[in-house]
Amino acid sequence: MPRNPEKFYVTTPIYYVNDIPHIGHAYTTIAADILARYNRFSGRKVFFLTGTDEHGQKVQKAAEQRSLSPKEHADKMVVNFKEMWQMLNISNNAFIRTTDEGHKARVRELLSSLWEKGLIEKRSYAGWYCVPDERFWTEKDLVNGKCPDCGRDVEQIEEQNYFFLMSRYHDALINHIEKNPSYVQPETRRNEVLGFLKSQPLGDLCISRPKKRLPWGIPLPFDEEFVTYVWFDALVNYYSGPQYLAPADTAWWPADVHIIGKDILTTHAVYWSTMLMALELPLPGTIFAHGWWTIEGKKMSKSLGNVVDPAAMADKYGVDAFRYFLFREIPFGHDGDFSEDAFITRINTELANDLGNLTTRTFTMAVKYFAGAVPGNPEAAIEPELLDIASAIPDRIEQHLRLLQFQKALDEIWKLVAYTNKYIESNAPWALAKSPETSGRLAQVIYSCLEALRYLAACLYPFMPSSMEALWKQLGFDEELGQTGLASAIKNTLPAGRKLGGFKALFPRIEKEKKKEIKSQIRRKEVEEKTEGNAAGGGGLIGIEDFAKVKLRTAKVLAAEPVKGSNKLLRLEVDLGDEKRQIVAGIGKSYSPEELIGKAVVIVANLKPAKLMGVESNGMLLAATDAEGMLSVLTTATGIKPGASIK
Ligand code: MSP
Repeated sequence: MPRNPEKFYVTTPIYYVNDIPHIGHAYTTIAADILARYNRFSGRKVFFLTGTDEHGQKVQKAAEQRSLSPKEHADKMVVNFKEMWQMLNISNNAFIRTTDEGHKARVRELLSSLWEKGLIEKRSYAGWYCVPDERFWTEKDLVNGKCPDCGRDVEQIEEQNYFFLMSRYHDALINHIEKNPSYVQPETRRNEVLGFLKSQPLGDLCISRPKKRLPWGIPLPFDEEFVTYVWFDALVNYYSGPQYLAPADTAWWPADVHIIGKDILTTHAVYWSTMLMALELPLPGTIFAHGWWTIEGKKMSKSLGNVVDPAAMADKYGVDAFRYFLFREIPFGHDGDFSEDAFITRINTELANDLGNLTTRTFTMAVKYFAGAVPGNPEAAIEPELLDIASAIPDRIEQHLRLLQFQKALDEIWKLVAYTNKYIESNAPWALAKSPETSGRLAQVIYSCLEALRYLAACLYPFMPSSMEALWKQLGFDEELGQTGLASAIKNTLPAGRKLGGFKALFPRIEKEKKKEIKSQIRRKEVEEKTEGNAAGGGGLIGIEDFAKVKLRTAKVLAAEPVKGSNKLLRLEVDLGDEKRQIVAGIGKSYSPEELIGKAVVIVANLKPAKLMGVESNGMLLAATDAEGMLSVLTTATGIKPGASIK
């Protein structure tokens, strides 16, 4: 993994501030954290960078909808990420925001440098533009006339813009990827990039947006009428971050690993690589694109209401159980399905049973037979076979983590867990305790189990830092495990006679009741939808107390317009007497915007805000459906004031 054995620089993508952090963001960030912790633990200097992507059209639009400036909007949203990373025990060394002055200055420097080298040109350009993705596409890129990436409508746009002469680096890029097999990983993604590059000429990259159309960005240093394309700006974070956010004693660039999701492979493997080539800067060691999580077989989406909130998971099941599951369940690089059943089964079998019971049994016996101290008998030495297995693991972890094979590293570690559990069964310490003649053997068995736990704490630390710190303390060490470092943690055998710390179970079993509670949380939205369906069919009765929770109010439609990119959604501004609100309603096929203006409609006023196609909706408009699916909005008799409550 590290190219320079002394230092290690790892990054996550910088996340769009519009979103609330979900399992996808957490996945990449925890992966980077495991690598960062592992490398720090192994004695390397580490810089781990994450942050937020704050410029561009999406942010500008979201801010407008909240009547905030884009920076105010970003300032509020960035807190969600910072808090989430704290909660998930993420050890990032710095947090970059693309609105930082330090970052903006570097973007402008790099743009000037490319401009001076003659690698940026102004051209007139006509193309198909996908607003949500903020990307231009050529006619042949489109799939059925829609954006090939997200499937949404595209707009024809013609304007003057600046282009980075990316096409010049086509051959050099192919060459670099071919010569450096670890540059794009995993192998399938490497083949995908090579296949794409070899099948067509590489175009030039439009790296500006006219300020008139999009003011929210970094102005080009050589033409202030334009701002920098958000991807050019965002990618530079990897290079700019260490320059103003890292200790200056180390030359951090190039990064060792950029961890990204598979959806942003092209921007990294092609745009970023060629930008660096043009700037004559070294390329990163590895760009690793991981797979995507589906949720119980379905794509995760806000409209399905199945977005997994990492904070809720960590809160209920524990941060470390969540961290463990994500990397144990599927090989990094593959797609995977997050199912709550699989999650709970794994926690119960592997953490509560395998590792948890091993720990509980060992400590209980140490307390019972040796008064809670490390056995002091002279025969107490670790069992040779167990030592062989345990001492082989650290090297294997290094090999696997070099290749970001988290699951394989955990497989290795679990061999020791399984072996030690069997060792207890076959040696039956409870039987050895019955006779003074076997007391020496009893001491050896318990000592060996405690030693196995010492290895396990050290090896599992990067994956489950706080539980392993707790285990380390229970083994009687004063210095924190993270501070001790891997080499010492492995070398420092337990001294006979050492008093063990107080024992507390690390991974409690998840009981069925809790499981039900969580399940109902994840499926809440699905259940709501099903209930609506049932009610239409005459079943699914609810009590008056449930109905009383729903606040229905009248509202007057002040303005209406289609939501860009959707032929169904309309954005409405409604008056509730005491407040005005924005609501997004899926009635665009049944009503033109003009027909709705002035209408007295009925809304659910106490729904949590939701975003539809990126537009926030604060409530739901009620409408009846006919057999053809045409909708008819509910209205009230005249004379009812906007905001009246409906009971
Ligand atoms: N701002 C850009 C990245 C710029 S990096 C210079 C961006 N931001 S994002 O907020 O959309 O990033 C989301 C990250 O989360 C991506 O790496 C994406 O692959 C990942 N995921 C989003 N949904 C996911 C799943 N369902 N599963 C796993 N990862 C997913 O893109």
